[in-house]
Amino acid sequence: MDFLTLFVIYVVVVLTCIVLVCKYSGQQQSPVTILLDNLAKIFGPITPKWLQRFSQRAMHKLFHQRSNMFIYIHILLELAVYAEFTYEVFGYCREMDTTLASLSVPYILLALKTLFFCLCIKKDPGTVTKKKVAGQLHIYKYDSRLFHPGVSCPTCQLVKPARSKHCRVCNRCVQRFDHHCVWVNNCIGSQNTRYFLLYLFSLSAMAGDIALLTGDMLLHAVLRSGLLHASYLDENGLQQPAGPLFVVQHLFLTFPRIIFMLGFLVFIFFLLAGYALFHTYLALINQTSNEWYKSRGYVCQHCHPATADRLCSMSSDHYKRHFYSKGLLQNIGEIFFPPQPVHKKD
Ligand SMILES: *[C@@H]1O[C@H](CO)[C@@H](O)[C@H](O)[C@H]1NC(C)=O
Ligand SMILES: [Zn+2]
Ligand SMILES: [Zn+2]
Repeated sequence: MDFLTLFVIYVVVVLTCIVLVCKYSGQQQSPVTILLDNLAKIFGPITPKWLQRFSQRAMHKLFHQRSNMFIYIHILLELAVYAEFTYEVFGYCREMDTTLASLSVPYILLALKTLFFCLCIKKDPGTVTKKKVAGQLHIYKYDSRLFHPGVSCPTCQLVKPARSKHCRVCNRCVQRFDHHCVWVNNCIGSQNTRYFLLYLFSLSAMAGDIALLTGDMLLHAVLRSGLLHASYLDENGLQQPAGPLFVVQHLFLTFPRIIFMLGFLVFIFFLLAGYALFHTYLALINQTSNEWYKSRGYVCQHCHPATADRLCSMSSDHYKRHFYSKGLLQNIGEIFFPPQPVHKKD
């Protein structure tokens, strides 16, 4: 295979990943689960029983039980990127007079990100406990839409506060439940959504900043090599200008690790930035991902959106996404200063 084919395959794979992830993020039936299901169907009958049991147990351990696996993967990937950055890119950048200040930004972001990451892992997301449940019940009103009063969790045997959900991975009910995040091996709930948001932003900033520095370095390398004005002799002995393809090939061969790191970072950056924006949007309209999915396709029992004001006694926008929003500032305030369970004195 020649270089061009390899390069095209590489670009197509990266782009397809980005598109697929963007298209299917948030859907229960992702192509990955469909693919895994189909693979299981095809290979199920011909794989030995012990292997089936082993893979089932592995999947269960990874996705349905608390495990630190993804935290380790996270740290390993980060180590790899920072080692590569420090070992190769840093030196080049110093040579081409990038200031130490801008080169230290990735390390500052790393420190910040690690802080929020640890807070996400350590902080209790707002577990509903026997002791606190009485106070937690008063934090939010039941909307009789997604959350109905008087429902108990069959596992925890406690009344479910509005906006709470039972996390099957952690086996507990969590107040203002957002989702269970395998990357921090914890639920995201009322008490740690703020750290989760900050974590997402610092992580995308980290990926974006390293990608920018690396891109800048590569640009300088190309300009310095004079490849843009170079020419080569083709098979007929004629002078041909070296086109952009030549430059890309040169970069790939000279800095293979850096190029792959850059590809990875760009991919991760778009993924994370998109996800961070989605969560910011949710925070701004006072919704959790849990509520977002629950209310998809929700139709009010009393009315149809088009005729809402005539048929329904509720306010005319009660079927809308931002139904719960009381203004951007208040919504954000609630994320950063989450209401605490109150103990009613009576
Ligand atoms: C957010 O929505 C809940 C209902 O789900 C509501 O009880 C709460 O007051 C809202 N908070 C803000 C700040 O709008
Ligand atoms: Zn529960
Ligand atoms: Zn959980």
